[in-house]
Amino acid sequence: MKKHIALSLLLFVLLSLYIQAEIKKGPYLIYPGDNSRMTILWQVDQTETGYLAWGTDANYSGGSAQTTEYGKDHQHKHTITGLTPGTKYYYRVKISNKKYTGSFRAAPQDSVKDIKFLVYGDTRTYPDDHNKVCNQMVNTYTNDPAYQTLVCLSGDYVGNGDDESHWQDQYFDRNQPGALEFQANMPVMGCLGNHERTGDLFKKYFPYPFVEGKRYYSFDYGPAHIIFIDQYESYSPGSDQYNWLVKDLETTTKPWKILVLHEPGWTAGAHKNNTAVQEHIQPLCLKYGIKVVLAGHNHYYARCEVDGIQHITAGGGGAPLYNVDLNSPNLVTAIKDFHFCEVHIQGDRIYLTTKDTKGRVIDSFDMDNSLPAPPPSIAIQKLKVQRIFMRYKKSGSQYYGLASIWITDHKGANVVGAEVFGTWSGSVTGDAQGTTDKHGRLLLKSPQIKKGKTFTFTITDIKKPGYTYKPNPKK
Ligand SMILES: [Fe+2]
Ligand SMILES: [Fe+2]
Repeated sequence: MKKHIALSLLLFVLLSLYIQAEIKKGPYLIYPGDNSRMTILWQVDQTETGYLAWGTDANYSGGSAQTTEYGKDHQHKHTITGLTPGTKYYYRVKISNKKYTGSFRAAPQDSVKDIKFLVYGDTRTYPDDHNKVCNQMVNTYTNDPAYQTLVCLSGDYVGNGDDESHWQDQYFDRNQPGALEFQANMPVMGCLGNHERTGDLFKKYFPYPFVEGKRYYSFDYGPAHIIFIDQYESYSPGSDQYNWLVKDLETTTKPWKILVLHEPGWTAGAHKNNTAVQEHIQPLCLKYGIKVVLAGHNHYYARCEVDGIQHITAGGGGAPLYNVDLNSPNLVTAIKDFHFCEVHIQGDRIYLTTKDTKGRVIDSFDMDNSLPAPPPSIAIQKLKVQRIFMRYKKSGSQYYGLASIWITDHKGANVVGAEVFGTWSGSVTGDAQGTTDKHGRLLLKSPQIKKGKTFTFTITDIKKPGYTYKPNPKK
């Protein structure tokens, strides 16, 4: 018996020496929405203690933490606190005897007026193509360290967000060095896409600073307030999310408001324009001065301009590319290519440059942050009865009254398609209604009447959307 125990112990010791925890995901970064903090996450394949150290150089002498797994799937995370805003930090994760390193820049001071960040979306399905886009984004912040801030991801991280293997083999694929490098050095801040399905694993791997119990959130970043919308929960007026969004827009004091959502309101074909964005989001953009809406869903780059608001489709992060329809309404430009966007806010101006996987510019624009023109409200016109002409009409041996009606607006222009309601009185009674023709005219015929008797037609109401009518009882 003793021999057995001794053998088992020996085997256990030997196995422990050989079976060492392997990293499965990360390390990767999430910005918790506070410029003195940064969250570092990773996942290993078995229970194992993690050791994290960080500092302002590669000696990692600024602080350290020992991590134990959380949840049920060997995940680790640690939020470093007490960072100096705008400062670059280096970190090292030790798992078993392997080391993984990365860096990040703490978010800027509140008072900073100049920031840079990146945007991409739809990273699903083809990790090789995703890797190419990541390589180019790494180039961007290597050449210009001011871009080492964060990336906004407009959803569809993986093909099937409810399938663990898709997260492992697509977004967190260990065979994609560019993507791994990018994730270790740039916080990825995104919104839910339709491909995230229930969103359970999206929340598992990306515990963003969500509104409690929700999948939408916002945070400040220097002069910008960045808002991430969940389009798979209602955002119609009156819904929780809409009310939160309005309150969020009313309370932020940041001059730049950026919205990130998955399905664009205006885009260039394939998936249609999202009418809920057009109806519910666009009016808020105009009212609260959101100048740029970042979306994905369609796997190409497109930019549409609607009443001074730029609607960007940045869906070329690795997913299978779609054709663009260059005749799409409000389209400024569109191109079928993998890409990402560099955003530079400099005081009152924003510069957005879109690049392909070779670093070539495929679109750029800049605009200022002046308040948009008031929305083109539907002008309320007044309806006017320009003329009523009454007469008899003989048909065989019978007589009818006829009311010939001409409706215009208050400026005298004919109004087509106005619904006119009225009543006959005098020698004939009854209600009548009809619609004006292309000349603004309408002919109403009374029930049968006797010759020589008088009759009256009174217009009781006229209806047409965008118009008002006030009956004049004297006429
Ligand atoms: Fe997509
Ligand atoms: Fe999508």
